[in-house]
Amino acid sequence: MAKYELPPLPYSYDALEPHIDESTMKIHHTKHHQAYTDGLNETLIRINALSHKNYIIGILSDLNSVTEIARDAINFHGGGYENHRMFWESMKPNGGGKPGGRLADEIGVYFGSFSEFKEKFSKGTIAIQGSGWGWLVYNQTYSSLEFTITPNQTSPWTQRLVPLLGLDVWEHAYYLKYQNRRIDYVNAWWNVVNWPEIEERFLRVAS
Ligand SMILES: [Fe+2]
Repeated sequence: MAKYELPPLPYSYDALEPHIDESTMKIHHTKHHQAYTDGLNETLIRINALSHKNYIIGILSDLNSVTEIARDAINFHGGGYENHRMFWESMKPNGGGKPGGRLADEIGVYFGSFSEFKEKFSKGTIAIQGSGWGWLVYNQTYSSLEFTITPNQTSPWTQRLVPLLGLDVWEHAYYLKYQNRRIDYVNAWWNVVNWPEIEERFLRVAS
């Protein structure tokens, strides 16, 4: 397996203005995401696992397959790599609004309504202590949608949950523009959610 590489952003650094500012996007992508990518590669080299047959999602889904001395590092850097890869694609200029199709129906089933889902997601994510992510996930065991949070860079894959939509609430994701106002960042972020992409992710895994 070749080394992991920083995936290019699917839009320009200023494309999500005014909701997410250009400087934050540039530093977040070229410094933070790059650092997780480098950390993942360095960890895989350290344990002679660059040829690991699974893509990082497979590794995260079975962390016990990783030698114990590197498990935390894979969880952190591998999660950081994959979480951010998804994060960029979860947003787009002129996004927002509501999902449609089957995802909209299922959100209604499991959360009551889209506005109830949004409130639960926002409140739960704003309340994360320290750094972490809020998630809409698909639980393949119960064929259900759930909201969950993970600390630091832990991926939902490590809990056998399929991430559909994640929100990064590390301070590096918002501090330049919003300082300590995480709530303002979360509220603004809904305006850039790429719902068609999230719907496609759901349809790929939903049974
Ligand atoms: Fe981040």
